[in-house]
This record gives sequence, structure tokens and C-alpha cells, in this order.
Amino acid sequence: MTADTSQATATAQPNIALVKYWGKRDATLNLPAAGSLSITLAGLHTRTHVHFDPALDADDVALNGARDTAQTRKVSAFLDLFRARARVDTRARVTSSNDFPTGAGLASSASGFAALAVAADRALRLGLGARNLSRLARRGSGSAARSIFGGFVEMSAGTRADGEDAFATPLLAADAWPLTVVVAITARGAKSISSRAGMEASQRASPFYRAWLATVPEDLASARAAVQARDFEQLARVSEASCLAMHAVMLATRPALLYWNPATVACIDCIRGLQRDGIGVFFTIDAGPQVKAVCLPGASSRVAAALRGVGGVQDLVTSTLGAGARVVPDTAA
Ligand code: DP6
Repeated sequence: MTADTSQATATAQPNIALVKYWGKRDATLNLPAAGSLSITLAGLHTRTHVHFDPALDADDVALNGARDTAQTRKVSAFLDLFRARARVDTRARVTSSNDFPTGAGLASSASGFAALAVAADRALRLGLGARNLSRLARRGSGSAARSIFGGFVEMSAGTRADGEDAFATPLLAADAWPLTVVVAITARGAKSISSRAGMEASQRASPFYRAWLATVPEDLASARAAVQARDFEQLARVSEASCLAMHAVMLATRPALLYWNPATVACIDCIRGLQRDGIGVFFTIDAGPQVKAVCLPGASSRVAAALRGVGGVQDLVTSTLGAGARVVPDTAA
């Protein structure tokens, strides 16, 4: 292999879980304790360029223009998985940027590791295929396994100790049910407790954790059926219930994990008002204060107008559903 031409660029979009992932059955292989179901967004992108360069002594990682030791260590360990498969030890230069706020509850780790997996696979000419890339993306971040695919996606927890059955599969293409997501940004900047640390704390110290885990298979079945039948009412019911149950687990964690701010609650209240008026919308919230309003086609402008008027909402991002991670023309990110 001529390692000095080993470069590629990939792009990936964040996804939003409708049935939530919170907790692991194995931390080393990053195996989720339960399955999850998500939608991949179209309007927000991570773009990542990877160049395996024999002239380098160490991996050189720049995320949004910044070099950070902890991130570099994570990315290096992730690239080691690809180097092992390619039987090379060439170090890489990685440049990655997001066109949306990093670490603010918009799942930048999902699109980040999905883009990195696809770029590394192409740069090393591994040709691993989407299912293997989903398994590998999972090692970087559980939610990243889902961003390998577009549209509606289900992640399997699997039962095998080696994690080979823990990967995502596409359920329905983005254009088969063109929902729109309006993200209400209620705070800027990175969250105080990462999803990884938060879920570890809940698993260890939330009396509700086990009870919540037992509800996931039924929620997954209900959400999967709702997607297959394009039944918005049913998807709304199960998604809001899954989200609120996860936040109940978080709140019961000792010490408590409270990711919401007053504007988060005001957005929930606003969406409930829209629902009473017959508007096709429901909310979901991850490990942060932003509120994601999932809308039927045609409802998003009314929803955006209502959320814009909620006190404490700083900005809105509207996105349709989009494609999975993919290679793009090879220019530096
Ligand atoms: C609340 O995928 O970021 O967004 O696997 O530890 O990297 P790690 O966690 P991560 O957790 C996402 C948690 C969530 C719910 C979800 O996306 O399913």
C-alpha cells in the first residue's frame, strides 16, 4: 500500500433518538444496555478529512480548528481499530468541523465518529461495508452507530459478549416519511456532564434505572410499528414517553442529573399547546437543554413561529431528515 496517498473526506449528520439509549452492557466495547430508534437529520453536518501520513510520528487531530489532548486520545484509539484491520501503523492527520454547536445536545459525537469511520475506511481502502462501519462507529460513540444510516434507524443492543450483534439498521428512508425537526436552542456552550458520564452515573446510582430498562423493548416495538405504518400519533406518544422516562431516570440519579433549564420546560409547554390545537408535533430532549420538535410535513413553520416566541429560546435550527454518512470529494475539511 502506498500510504502517502491514503486520504479521504467524509460527511455525516447527527441523529436524534426517539427511543432513547441510556446505559451500557459493556463499557469497553461500548455495547448499549438496550436498543434505540432514531432519525438522521439533513441540515447539520460534520465534515472530516483523514490523511494517513508516514511522515507523522503521532496522530494530529484538529476538531473545529482546536487541538485537545483528551479528544486526540479518543480519536487515536478509534483509528487504531482501523489500523489493526488494515495492518498498518501509519499515523493520521484528522481535521473535522461541524456547522452546528459542538457538545450542546445536538449529538456532535454521533456525526463525528460516523464521519471518521467512513473517512478512515476509505483512506485505508478497507471496504468494510455499512454494517461493519456501524459496529465500529459504536466503539467511538453509541449514537454514532445510527448516523451511518439515513432516515429512520434502529440500533440493536445485541446479546453477544463480543458485540458483533450490536449495530444499527435502516428502517425507513428519509424521503419515505418526510418529517421535519425544529431544534430550539435554549443555551449555548458545552453541557456540564457528558452523556457518557451521565449514563454511567444513572446506571450506578438511579433507583429507576432497571425499571426504565425493562420498558425499552416495548417502546422499541411500538415506535418501529409506528414508523412502518407512518402513524404519527403513535410515534409521538412513544417518543415523548421514552424521553420523559429517560429524564426521570436522570433526575432520580444521586446526585441528580438535571439537563433542563426554564426555557426547556417552556418549550414543552408550547408544544403541548400546539398539540391541543391539532398541530402534528411532538418533543424530544437529550442530555442537554435543547428541545427538538418533530413535525409532520407542513407543520414546521407554525411550530417554528410558536417556539420563536418562547422566552429563553435563543435560536432555531430547522432540518428535514437526511442521508447516512458518506464519502465526499477529497478536499481538506
Ligand atoms: C441522551 O452516544 O453520546 O443522546 O456511547 O457514551 O458516546 P456514548 O454516548 P452517546 O449517548 C447518547 C445519549 C442520548 C440518547 C440517544 O442518543 O439515544
